Amino acid sequence: MSTNTQQEPIKDDGQIPNDPLTDHSYDGIREFDNPMPGWWKALFWGSIVWSALYWLYYENGITPDRSVVAAYDRAVAANMAKQFAEIGDLKPDRATILKFAQDPDWVAFGKSVFQTNCVSCHGNNAEGKIGPNLTDDKWKNVKKVEDIPHVIANGAGGNAMPAWKDKLNQNEIVLLTSYLLAIHGTVPPGTGLPPIKGETNVISDLDTPAEEPVGEQTQPGAEPSKADTTKTDAAPSEGEASK
Ligand code: HEC
Repeated sequence: MSTNTQQEPIKDDGQIPNDPLTDHSYDGIREFDNPMPGWWKALFWGSIVWSALYWLYYENGITPDRSVVAAYDRAVAANMAKQFAEIGDLKPDRATILKFAQDPDWVAFGKSVFQTNCVSCHGNNAEGKIGPNLTDDKWKNVKKVEDIPHVIANGAGGNAMPAWKDKLNQNEIVLLTSYLLAIHGTVPPGTGLPPIKGETNVISDLDTPAEEPVGEQTQPGAEPSKADTTKTDAAPSEGEASK
């Protein structure tokens, strides 16, 4: 066979070198038992030792989870605890919700909770997906502001909307609600899905500023009968306004 490489032809002097041979023989072809190169063996053993150390460090089940994800989660939780210390335990009442809906920092916080937990069903900007649009004026389980945290905490539609009270704490639920009110009336791209069946309610007291004193309602379209129900601590009677 002609050779097209520069390699010197192997001289066949009829001598088999004295190097150790394996005991394989394939059609008379013998195989030298040469050792693997040192660098290869170093990598091999090195990776075994590395994996043992890695396992001990990250996965031993005794020390707290050291993974980057866990460290991140801990940092987020610590940061949240620090932030929540500022605002204390929020009550899911109208005054609190509307107050925080005015605060861009806390709205941003509510948004981040929304992005983490809700976008899969309600869409990136609450425009609606398998869950309904939450920015429009059509509500099914909600008649007044306080109903929103209630739905978030307890779920709705026979669990089609899951209950979040075991996964989110009260402050998160309140701030989620504040976020939803802050984006209420926006028309994010992708809106226009048909409303879910039975969506009929309008939150009648939604656009009333939280701090607005009783009797000074100048909202266009506000019903006169609301004058006696807008006091923030008179929440139980709110629902009456729409009747
Ligand atoms: C698994 C999908 C899913 C997830 C995740 C989800 N939702 Fe829902 N959500 C729904 C569905 C479906 C409905 C409609 C329930 C019904 O028909 O009564 C709904 C309804 C609601 C309503 C009431 C709307 C109305 O008109 O009555 C609110 C408020 C709401 N979701 C907020 C949230 C928030 C906040 C989150 C994140 C913490 C969230 N949802 C996560 C599916 C979901």
